Order: sequence, then structure tokens, then C-alpha cells
Amino acid sequence: MCGIVGYVGKQQVAPILLDGLARLEYRGYDSAGIACMENGAIQVYKAKGRLQTLSDLVQGGQAVRSTLGIGHTRWATHGKPSDENSHPHLSQHGRFAIVHNGIIENYSEIKNALLAAGMTFASETDSEVIANLLEQNYTGDLLRAVKATVDALEGSYALGIVCRDHPDRFVAVRHASPLIVGLSDDGNFVASDIPAILAYTRTIYHLGEGEIVELTGDAVRVFNSDLEPVIKQAEEVTWDVKSAEKDGYDYFMEKEIMEQPRALHDTISARINDHGQIVLDGVHLTRQDIEGFRRIYIVACGSAYHVGMVGKYIIEKTTRIPVEVDLASEFRYRDPIVDEKTLMIIISQSGETADTLAALREGKARGARILSIVNVVGSSIANESDDVLYTWAGPEIAVATTKAYSTQLSMMYLIALYMAEKLERIEKEELRSLLASLMQLPELVQQVITRTKPQIMALAKQFHQVEHAYYLGRNVDYAVAMEASLKLKEVSYVHSEAYAAGELKHGTISLIEDGTLVVAMAGCHRVVEKTVSNIQEVKARGATVIVVTTEDNTGVERVSDHVIYLPKVKEMFLPSVEVVPMQMLGFYMAKERGCDVDKPRNLAKSVTVE
Ligand code: F6R
Repeated sequence: MCGIVGYVGKQQVAPILLDGLARLEYRGYDSAGIACMENGAIQVYKAKGRLQTLSDLVQGGQAVRSTLGIGHTRWATHGKPSDENSHPHLSQHGRFAIVHNGIIENYSEIKNALLAAGMTFASETDSEVIANLLEQNYTGDLLRAVKATVDALEGSYALGIVCRDHPDRFVAVRHASPLIVGLSDDGNFVASDIPAILAYTRTIYHLGEGEIVELTGDAVRVFNSDLEPVIKQAEEVTWDVKSAEKDGYDYFMEKEIMEQPRALHDTISARINDHGQIVLDGVHLTRQDIEGFRRIYIVACGSAYHVGMVGKYIIEKTTRIPVEVDLASEFRYRDPIVDEKTLMIIISQSGETADTLAALREGKARGARILSIVNVVGSSIANESDDVLYTWAGPEIAVATTKAYSTQLSMMYLIALYMAEKLERIEKEELRSLLASLMQLPELVQQVITRTKPQIMALAKQFHQVEHAYYLGRNVDYAVAMEASLKLKEVSYVHSEAYAAGELKHGTISLIEDGTLVVAMAGCHRVVEKTVSNIQEVKARGATVIVVTTEDNTGVERVSDHVIYLPKVKEMFLPSVEVVPMQMLGFYMAKERGCDVDKPRNLAKSVTVE
């Protein structure tokens, strides 16, 4: 997500911070800032936009006479990109400055308590509460104030903390968001990512969960969350900058596939409170609003459209409101039947896709209420919507989407359940049980990655020379088949098509011959026997079949050449576990074929033309 770098030592700090932040630019950001200890006070310099704007502000860092500071590049989650929302954030009386990566899930509660205690806030961010909480908890002991503060936080965080009363040191702490410490003869560093400090040191260690580190120019002390000392073993980084940017993976697509458990955790857990209720920040739909909708349109392009296909199945099933899912490029020119009794759900990672934006405007002009699911805060689609739900996947760099798709899916589940709850169309007990399973999804996706990766790699080796592939499925399995097929073709250039399993025999089955690769998604219990019949049809014509199913469906072995088994999961969440091995199949096939995985030919990450 965002980037952090901090330094204390013999060198002038600001140029080091700017250089470190520049090395994190590839991750994407919308604002940047630094906080440095200057003449006994903390000075903050920050600006929306490119790092160059900040650099110009401080003359490349030369204008800041300081040897201790922390820096940050922000990728907005709470609050639009702006100077005020940029990090570092100062506490009310300027005693603390903080930079934060991650999401503070209970920030509204903390903010309300701090407001009631008379504190003021300058930004819309979740992060600013940390600075004021530090100020409130501080009684002269820096480490105790940090401990008391992080004990009150829920969510994920990597923090850099500077305190005016301790001008020779700064503190960093992490929980569910990475942070490393770098050691050198000239001073010591923290960073969210290795590339930020690779020009200065290769001697690092990774901070463990809950660990707190206190850095001075010549000493680094690490403590556990109870402030007991921890002995760390330093390691030497052997990666070059390019692999360090990808966390040691060969491609961003691979890194982003592996990041999905974290992205899902951030996106889901902040939307389900401690009482097991769905809290959709940014959505103001009341029961009356929802009751008034005669139909829902889900409109998007590409993979986001495939999320919409899943959405149709699950929203109709849970709310009984009719849902149409449409490609944005078709919707905008087909005189759609939309009025003020229509809810339009717009899905977009970038928030800038030209057709999707035009469809939104078309719907809005006809009176529809617009609810968007967007990854980029402050993007055009977010700005023009009535209600916005942000996926907190973090910046997606690979052109082919993976983690944005997965987090969009999780938002679909939450919207479906939110509306069903408001309409009282779901039993309390069932809702409780579904939400408990949804909370488990990040862990389940991690299991899927760990368990299926070796098998997928072997399958990719075996099949990477095929010229054609067909993906089949019914119901939500069909929606996943569409995405699986797109993932394969766009990165590996293998021609592939996805079909509703029952539809193949109406024409396309004539293309199946000896050795044709067919991938059948067969997780959906209600229709699995029907899908098995369709698999038999292609098998009888010589197809080689890979079946993707859950571990309780062992019956499929009789009709398949290979079975990819997934953990059992409630039907609603099946797409989330099914898609992951399919993303990996696309990725490893492309790798085997020597393709430019992160930048496939002819494709752009954000499609801003019609
Ligand atoms: C495929 C992919 C594209 C996008 C589509 C919409 O891997 O990434 O199909 O899903 O171009 O883009 P957004 O979500 O930015 O509107």
C-alpha cells in the first residue's frame, strides 16, 4: 500500500528520505511527506501529487537541516488525496509525528473519544488518531506511550513515530503490515520495503508481529509487544533492486496473487464490527431506499464485469431483487431501462475506465442511484457516485488484475448480505454464520495458495504448449470460468473461451477433439452432477479435463484427468477460492511460455479510451 522510510544517523536526513521514497514510487502513490527533527521541533513537509513537488518544496532535501526523520508515500484509503490527508500527521500539540501504512479499523471509536476529550483533527484519515492517541498516552516515557497506543488499535499498521521530547531517536512498530530495519555504520533505517534502503545498506532484519523498535544513530533496540527485549538476527539482502521491488518474486502478478489474503483481510475485516454487524462506510442506503429499487444493474468492464456476474447470482438469491449485469460499453448505447427506482452498482479497480464512467453518467442522468466499488480513492468514478465502497487491495501494478478482482468479489458478498439484512430476507443465525465464514476467507485463500501451487506449476509445465483451452461451469462456477479464461488468454496468449457448461453442446462442442484442454469449474454443489454430465460429453470426444472442485466432491475423479481440490466453503464464497488456482494457472502458463507477464502485449492497466 503506502511506503515508509525512516532514518537517524550522521547524514542529512531529508535527501535520504526523498531518495528512499523515490525508490518506492513504482508502487503507486498520490501524495508524499517527511517529518524531520529540526532545532528541537518537528517540521513536517508534505504535498499532494508527485514526489517532485515535495522535493521542490525542500530543495531536494538540502533545505532541511536535520539528521533524523520519517517519510511516507500515501496511497489513499480513508479520505481523498490532499495535502491535509498526506502523512506525516502531527499530534494536536506537535509533540508527535507519525507515518502509517495499513488500516485502523476502530478509528471512528478512537476519534470520537479523542474529540470528546477536546482533541482536534486536521485530516479525514484513520491514521491521524494515532498521533493524538500518542499525545494523550504520553507521560514522559516514549516506549510506554507507544505500547499503550498500539494496544488500543485494531487493524493493520506499520508505524514510524517521532517525538519532540526525544530528538535523538525514533520508534517504529508493526502489526500485520511489513516493516524492516536496516543497519549501517552511518546510521539506522526503517522501511516498509527493501528497495527504499538498498542504496544505503544490505544488512537488515524483518520486524516480527507486534515488535517495537527504537532507533538512534548508533543503536537499535527491539522489544516485543510487552516491551521485553528481543534479540534479532541480521540478514544480508542478496536481491537486486528489481527483485526487491517485487518482494523477491519474479513478477508483480505473482506478488499480487500471493498478497490476496492480506488484501482480503483489509477489505473485509474493517467492514464487520465486533458485534458481527456489517458496516459499509461510504454507503448510505436505508431500508426504505433498498425497498424502493425495482431492479439493480451491475455495470463494468473485463474482470470487473466478471465480478458483476457473480454479483447477479448472489444478490438475486439473497435479496430477490432482479439484477442485470451489463458490459459498460454495451450499456451506454442501448437505451437502458433505468429510472430513480434503479440501483446501479459500478465496479472498477482504476475508477477511470472510460466506458464504465460513461455508463455511470448515463445511468445517473436517467435517475439511478449509483453505488460504486472502486480501488483508487478520489478517482472519477468514486467522485461521481452517490455511495462508494473502496476495496483496500492496495496499488495493483500487473496489468492483469488479481487482488483487485478478489477484493471486488468480497465487496459483492458484503453488499448482498447488507441488503438482505436491511430487507430482513435473511435469518439472523444464517447471517451470523455467513459473516463468520467470510471473516475466515483470507485464511482459506492462503490455504488454497499453499496447497495448490505445486500442482498448478506442474500442470502449467505439462500443458503450456496447448493452443486452445475451454473453461466450463454452471451458476457461479460459470462466472469464475469467465475470469479464469480471461486470465489465461490475456497473459499467456493461449486462445481460450469460457462457456456455461450446458451451452457447449449447442455449437462449440464441435471444436473438441483428441487432447483439447478443458478446465471444468465444478464446485457449486447444487449443479455439480449436471456439470459432471457436461464433462462426460467433452471427455467422450477426447478432451483432456482438469476439474476444479471442493474436497468433498471426490465423485468427479471418474470423469477427469486431473482434479484440483479446494477446501470446502459456503457456496456464496466459492468464487473466491476457485479463482485463485485459475489465476496461478494463467500466470505459470505464461511464465512457461516466456511471456511478458506483467505487461501483456496490446493491453493497458487503465483503459481511458472508448
Ligand atoms: C483483466 C483486467 C481488465 C480490467 C478492466 C476494467 O485482467 O484487468 O479486464 O478488469 O479493464 O478495469 P477497471 O477495473 O480499472 O475499470
